Amino acid sequence: MASVLLVVFVNGKICKDPNIISADDFFFPGLNMPGNTSNAQGSRVTPVNVNQLPGLNTLGISLVRIDYAPYGLNPPHTLPRATEVLVVVEGTLFVGFTLYPGDVFVFPEGLIHFQFNVGKTNAFVFAGLSSQNPGVITIANAVFGSDPPISLDVLTKAFQVDANVNIYLQAQFK
Ligand SMILES: *[C@@H]1O[C@H](CO)[C@@H](O)[C@H](O)[C@H]1NC(C)=O
Repeated sequence: MASVLLVVFVNGKICKDPNIISADDFFFPGLNMPGNTSNAQGSRVTPVNVNQLPGLNTLGISLVRIDYAPYGLNPPHTLPRATEVLVVVEGTLFVGFTLYPGDVFVFPEGLIHFQFNVGKTNAFVFAGLSSQNPGVITIANAVFGSDPPISLDVLTKAFQVDANVNIYLQAQFK
């Protein structure tokens, strides 16, 4: 007799049984603490989305704190599912315009954007995101670090630079 295999795919998080939800599902502490910026980019994103705060599920909203060492960069990236509204708390950031404490900037959903600390001190921001699960695609990693790699013929024609330049760039994202 033939058996039927039922497989359900959920595009997002499944809802918890209401009987096992607790107040902790709606609580996340510690966003007053700076993220560790000791890395090649000199920046750290601390996310508070549905993965850290289950109570955000289905609500269409989340938050990040981003810390930047002096000259630290949050490299060009796009959020496939969220608009980002950012407020500078400390420091001076270049995002295409220069932002100072208290300045608010909005990056519309899907737009490639970055933040670069052009000040001599640490900087940090909070940013609201219009999705409980915004996603992130970092441009350099996606283009030069993909596995399997994008062929040199494609990169060479797309970027109009010598194949060796692309080989070099791919090596940075291995
Ligand atoms: C920050 O990250 C670096 C590199 O991973 C690590 O060596 C260091 O211990 C971390 N610092 C703290 C305070 O966690």
